Amino acid sequence: MYQIIDGKAISTALKEELKVKVDEMKSHGTVPCLAVILVGEDPASTVYVGNKKKACEFIGIKSLSYELPESTSREELLELIEKLNADDSVNGILVQLPLPKHIDEDAVIKAISPKKDVDGFHPQSVGALCIGQPGFVSCTPAGIIELLKRSNVEIEGKECVIIGRSNIVGKPMSLLMLRENATVTVCHSRTKNLAEVTKRADILIVAIGKPKMITAEYVKEGAVVIDVGIHRLEGKKLCGDVDFDDVAPHTSAITPVPGGVGPMTIAMLMKNCVESVSLNS
Ligand code: GUN
Repeated sequence: MYQIIDGKAISTALKEELKVKVDEMKSHGTVPCLAVILVGEDPASTVYVGNKKKACEFIGIKSLSYELPESTSREELLELIEKLNADDSVNGILVQLPLPKHIDEDAVIKAISPKKDVDGFHPQSVGALCIGQPGFVSCTPAGIIELLKRSNVEIEGKECVIIGRSNIVGKPMSLLMLRENATVTVCHSRTKNLAEVTKRADILIVAIGKPKMITAEYVKEGAVVIDVGIHRLEGKKLCGDVDFDDVAPHTSAITPVPGGVGPMTIAMLMKNCVESVSLNS
């Protein structure tokens, strides 16, 4: 029988722990504060930003909300970031991605002070992760490590295969698994004989962005499978990159969609916000 890794329960436990920490901070007069910037009205981004603000409220983090029109210029956005960088009462800055096409995302990410980069997207944060120095780590991969550890999945010495090489998930995930002493392989769209490679995995992390692409033939018997994908099928049901019903019986543990990796991303953002207080005081 396989274990279902319950991301909802684990993220709730983490948020409860953070709430206790924030209460303690508040009793000493410190209130963590996250500035959230949304440019335009992308429906998915609007939902994500709303969920981030709700999580802040639950934990007791102050959230400042900047909802800017689609027509905002790159200069206006950079000016706001500069103002928030200089504001000592703001610990974390989050610019929701994607940005409208006329704004260069790389320039915006680079403008955020690495001390307030709670998304972990700044080149300095990524570089620090790469050479094992302290810094913020991208929330989804950091959340996956937390899921594995809190589910008692041993990582050290294990064969880990990651499908996907994005800057937000695949690349930082590979660095984090290396840091945990796994043997890491990263696969992508040009990988030959994908199933042959993924069948080697003790831990298979899937972030390809294709609904239900990973079926049982890609998975070694008894592997742990982590599904980063989230898609809405016709009829509104959600599914991941993994065909759960086909794959689950062959695993020792697997994350569901919804209720697996998703809730951990916001919980880790909150963790980064709480940790950012000590960097900015
Ligand atoms: N858009 C999709 N995921 C994310 C995320 O984790 N952070 C930000 N800033 N934007 C996103």
